[in-house]
Order: sequence, then structure tokens, then C-alpha cells
Amino acid sequence: MTNSSDFRPVALEHASRLINHGPTVLVTSADGSRRNIMAAAWSMPVEFTPPRIAVVIDKHTYTRELIAKTGTFAICIPGTALVDLTYAVGSASGRDLDKFAHCGIDAKAGPVLGMPVIEGGCSAWLECRLIPERHTEDAYDTCFAEVVAAAADARVFVNGHWTFDSGNAALHTIHHLGGGNFVSAGNTIRARA
Ligand SMILES: Cc1cc2nc3c(=O)[nH]c(=O)nc-3n(C[C@H](O)[C@H](O)[C@H](O)COP(=O)(O)O)c2cc1C
Repeated sequence: MTNSSDFRPVALEHASRLINHGPTVLVTSADGSRRNIMAAAWSMPVEFTPPRIAVVIDKHTYTRELIAKTGTFAICIPGTALVDLTYAVGSASGRDLDKFAHCGIDAKAGPVLGMPVIEGGCSAWLECRLIPERHTEDAYDTCFAEVVAAAADARVFVNGHWTFDSGNAALHTIHHLGGGNFVSAGNTIRARA
């Protein structure tokens, strides 16, 4: 399991690299005492500086309802140890239960927006402020946001780069193939200049 003490801030100009390779993520949200978490396979960076991202969040989800109210959310990037949890929070709605309590998820408040961020079992997180774009939200369920804080586990993300190797396999990101099947990130390979 990840130790929260291994998390270090990520410079905002490197935040896009956290989701550049298309990991399945956990979208967390909170409105006062109500908090929620869902899985999302469809997210991507759209700008380096300021760091902006896009994530598809279906308009029928409870997550979308909370984000519409607060204009804030967080993205947590689960490692292979959280594959079952990722599938579970993507298969039930927070309208019906508190998934944090139900799944025993330990979260802390993010430093800028106070969104729930998860470090145990995750390799990174990003706090995000919604950039309201009514058309893309309504027509394509695509929500744009600016990343205002980010952190990553230094055992797997160092100096702005993922370092996936056999020594940190539990922190490798997971990628949804569909139907509850996932593949984990493999070892890092470097292209020649
Ligand atoms: C692996 C996985 C990936 C998913 N990816 C997305 C996604 O990219 N966008 C989306 O809107 N829903 C996605 N879902 C479905 C939501 O996670 C699901 O509707 C969830 O129950 C919504 O929870 P909520 O109502 O508590 O917000 C995914 C589900 C799984 C299991």
C-alpha cells in the first residue's frame, strides 16, 4: 500500500503528465458534508500552462450534481491495488450510499479547494476548478477544469516524470479495457532523441 508520507507536490507545469497516458481515474467531489467518488476512464490534458484537463462525467451522475453546485472536484489516480475499489465506485451511485464509508476509503482535504484526495493506494491526485462550458457539458458530458494543485507518490513520479518499473508495480496506473477488465502501465521505455 502507498504511504501518504511519500506524496510530494507536483509543479503545475508538470500536472498534465499525470494523466497524459490515459489512466482510469477516481473523480471525487464534495458539497459541505456530502462527498462522493466515481470512476472515469475518459479524461485527458488539454493545456500545459495553466494546466487544464477535460473529463467526461455523465450528466446523470451524482458527481455531476455536486460539481455543478461547487464548481470543484479532484482527480485521484489509483494504482493496481485499487482496481476492485475503482470498479466498485464506478458501479454504484453516491445518491444511494456514501461510497467513502461503504468502501472504507481514507481521504484528506486537498490544500487549495478542500476536495477529498486519496493517497493510500493512489499514485497521484489533482485538485481541479471547473471551467464552466455549458455547451460541452450539456452536449457531450465533457467538463473542462483548471488544475490548481497536484501531488504524486515520489516512488513512482519524480522530477515531472512517471518511473514505472518492477519495483513499484502496486503504484502502476490502471487503464480500463471495458467490462471490468483493466491493464496496468508497464515499464517505462525511453525514445532516442
Ligand atoms: C472503469 C469505469 C470507468 C468509467 N468511466 C466513466 C467515465 O469516463 N465517465 C462517466 O461519466 N462514467 C464513467 N463510469 C461510470 C461511473 O463511474 C458511474 O456511473 C458511477 O456510478 C457514477 O457515480 P455517482 O452517481 O456516484 O457519481 C465508469 C465506470 C467504470 C467502472
